Amino acid sequence: MVSTMYKKPPATPQGFKSQRMSPPQQGRSPLAKILVEDTLRGKDFLGIGYFNCGELKLILEVAALLKANKFDDTQTLFAKGQTLALCFEKPSLRTKVTFEAGMIQLGGSSIFLEDKLGVRESVPDIARNLDRWLDGIMARVFEHNTLILLADYAQVPVINGLSDLEHPCQALADFLTIKEQKDIKDWNFKGINLAYVGDGNNVANSLMLLAAKLGCNFSIACPSGYKPDATLWEMALEEAKHTGAKLTITESPTQAVAGADAVYTDTWVSMGQEDEMAERIKIFGSFQVNDALLKFAKPDAIVMHCLPAHRGQEITDAVMDGPQSVVFEQAENRLHVQKAVISLIM
Ligand code: CP
Ligand code: NVA
Repeated sequence: MVSTMYKKPPATPQGFKSQRMSPPQQGRSPLAKILVEDTLRGKDFLGIGYFNCGELKLILEVAALLKANKFDDTQTLFAKGQTLALCFEKPSLRTKVTFEAGMIQLGGSSIFLEDKLGVRESVPDIARNLDRWLDGIMARVFEHNTLILLADYAQVPVINGLSDLEHPCQALADFLTIKEQKDIKDWNFKGINLAYVGDGNNVANSLMLLAAKLGCNFSIACPSGYKPDATLWEMALEEAKHTGAKLTITESPTQAVAGADAVYTDTWVSMGQEDEMAERIKIFGSFQVNDALLKFAKPDAIVMHCLPAHRGQEITDAVMDGPQSVVFEQAENRLHVQKAVISLIM
């Protein structure tokens, strides 16, 4: 009997397309303009709150352009010879792989570091070492303040790969997904209703800010005590005055989801909150995205999740694997957004 380890793999699926890049089209590539776009060059990318609407739309546009021309090897010039540090205080699948693959596809490379920052040596000293060798620092941290410290001391751009306050790369990938799924023109999200159900955490904070800045209506349902960050909520309300976005906060999932074009959820227990798991599961029990809740949204609403999902908690299998789910489209778009951020700031 053949060992299962040596089982014949299934045939290559029909329609398989090689991911090989096409030869350079000297001077004719639609990507050439990215090389000379210097608006954001050298800036840190610490959160949605630090950027204006025009800058955020530029990142989204570049992400869409890179995605549409992903086989054009002009891309390999955008980080040529550059190296990005990938510092992780917490686990990751999407953020780690998309930054690493993104750097390779842009002609650069990355170095993975997995340690709590500030333990073996201080965060300022880490920053002042890394910037002597490398061209950028991406960090996933427990405390947002660690990012601020890195950015204060490093002479190279620092990118937020998730903090307790924001997950900005995720929010950009999510709005690229909404744009594609709802066929939105010119990044005009006016009239689109995004509903978020669950914990007012880092993902909710960034989504709320980006929605407000892009003019997208945003309603969030969360238990009292689990609302988005109060300062960022005020910032979002201020932005909404200019863009016309309607922002609402409620404790009723059905109220938040009523008439939604997109229904979003994230884990009830973020990384680092594992000791609150039992209590949180009780508190968030009625905030599950399931078929019954989805009936309150528009019939063609999309379902979104940043992943990883805790199936059976914040989202059911039926919804996550159902026809309205775009969770893997979101995951794919993380790659294109990371590449846009790298191309524009590094
Ligand atoms: N969504 C997200 O950031 O996934 P990872 O935690 O796997 O990076
Ligand atoms: N809110 C989650 C997002 C994971 C991508 C966390 O911080 O763990």
